[in-house]
Amino acid sequence: MKFGIIGGTGFYEPGLLDEERELTVKTPYGAATLKVGLYQGKEVIFLPRHGKSHMIPPHLINYRANIWALREIGATKVIATAAVGSLQEDLRPGEIVLVDQLLDFTKSRPQTFFEGGGAGVLHVDMTSPYCPSLHEDIYQVARRIQLHVHRTGTYVCTEGPRYETPAEIRMFRMLGGDVVGMTSVPEVVLAREATLCYATLALITNYAAGISLRPLSHQEVVEATNRAQHAMRKLIFTSIEQIKEERSCSCPQAAKELGSLGIKEKGE
Ligand code: HPA
Repeated sequence: MKFGIIGGTGFYEPGLLDEERELTVKTPYGAATLKVGLYQGKEVIFLPRHGKSHMIPPHLINYRANIWALREIGATKVIATAAVGSLQEDLRPGEIVLVDQLLDFTKSRPQTFFEGGGAGVLHVDMTSPYCPSLHEDIYQVARRIQLHVHRTGTYVCTEGPRYETPAEIRMFRMLGGDVVGMTSVPEVVLAREATLCYATLALITNYAAGISLRPLSHQEVVEATNRAQHAMRKLIFTSIEQIKEERSCSCPQAAKELGSLGIKEKGE
């Protein structure tokens, strides 16, 4: 069992890992480059979603290669970070939301490993898109380290790479969205298909368009993630330290209708 971290905007280096080394994993979808290392003796895999220096825009990220690679080298519990805009006045910039639901407004992204034929067809259950057990464990860690986090929230995923219009933000609010970002879909879907436990720490970097009257810039988002680095790292690494290996959730059975994904974990 290994922990995986998927670093979003502003989170390009794992930090804190001993014996850190870079690894390129070949997958049926192309290669994924990640880092592996040890934290307090536990093996950790780190993958910067946008590449090492934010070279890959959200709609062009190779989500399938990333999730396949994490699974292939043995990740079972994956904590992702994501920069988001807030749709609600009481979700303030600088705060973390442990999102538990999503609304998908992406348009052009392959969302499955199962494209029929030999791979079969899987209609994966998304009742709990983010692993409820990993989510709750992270929430309890946040309480123990006295870090204020929001326990639930609905993530609206847009296609990007542009930011939203105020009219879109008004619509997302009406539909029940709490925060908006560009990357949770299809990552969360593929993680479920790959039977990983997957949770997301959504870091609010700004009020979304129209709630904030100022134009939004990527620079502003990156600066806000930089300010939150310490808290985010503390929550992630304390979680890795304290969360148990056992899995009591239903994630290992998420693809049971098909048998296994055919990804052989190293050492299996
Ligand atoms: N919209 C979409 N993605 C984002 C935002 C936003 O306001 N802030 C950070 N990522």
